[in-house]
Amino acid sequence: MSTPHLQGKKGDYAPVVLMPGDPLRAKFIAETYLDQPVCVNEIRGMLGYTGTYQGVPVSVQGSGMGIPSIGIYSYELFHFFNVKSIIRIGTAGGIDPAVKLRDVILGQASCTNSNFAAQYHLPGTYAPIASFRLLKTAADTAQKLEIPVKTGNLFCSDMFYDDANSLELWAKMHVLGIEMESAALYMNAAREGKEALCICTVSDCPLRHEFTSAEERQTGFTSMMRLALETAVQL
Ligand code: HPA
Repeated sequence: MSTPHLQGKKGDYAPVVLMPGDPLRAKFIAETYLDQPVCVNEIRGMLGYTGTYQGVPVSVQGSGMGIPSIGIYSYELFHFFNVKSIIRIGTAGGIDPAVKLRDVILGQASCTNSNFAAQYHLPGTYAPIASFRLLKTAADTAQKLEIPVKTGNLFCSDMFYDDANSLELWAKMHVLGIEMESAALYMNAAREGKEALCICTVSDCPLRHEFTSAEERQTGFTSMMRLALETAVQL
């Protein structure tokens, strides 16, 4: 059964899906880390693959950038493809002064300036959080693999180019990093009774005007990938 955005049949996706923003990164991950990867989606070039890692079925599906895009893909995976857990693997801008370039962040929760939660008509403010099971598994696995991680709040922004320049205000609340997808992912998981976690490597620290090179991003990415895959196979 295909959906408007995913052409696969039920069963084409593993119960656990890794979601990078960039579809070409999904292709790279599938071809580099998975055994027998099969391409399960090409619609709009938003590539998705299913294979195995250490004998366990794992899928990798591009999410695109921003809340509307990951909102669509994560909803369809949870709702129509019986996917149980999604681990976003992305980049974030470091906000808190303790966060350095190439750090790996586990997004315990996600603040947002998006109106995504309005659809639920809640009589208050919803707090999007990661699945505790995924977060604990990832934190324990990071310790075992000796991958240092920082765990805390993310700020999920609708704007990459933000006229209001609000990052210093989020820094006052010790929010660790800014990215653009976690809040929708966490809310879709909550609404569907499923599990999600966002793991990010810090690609830039906008407040300090620090940026990584493509090569440095690859190094941080390798630790994050190992952590995500080793977490995924324990779920
Ligand atoms: N802003 C928003 N999203 C990001 C950033 C940023 O500075 N860096 C990586 N993802």
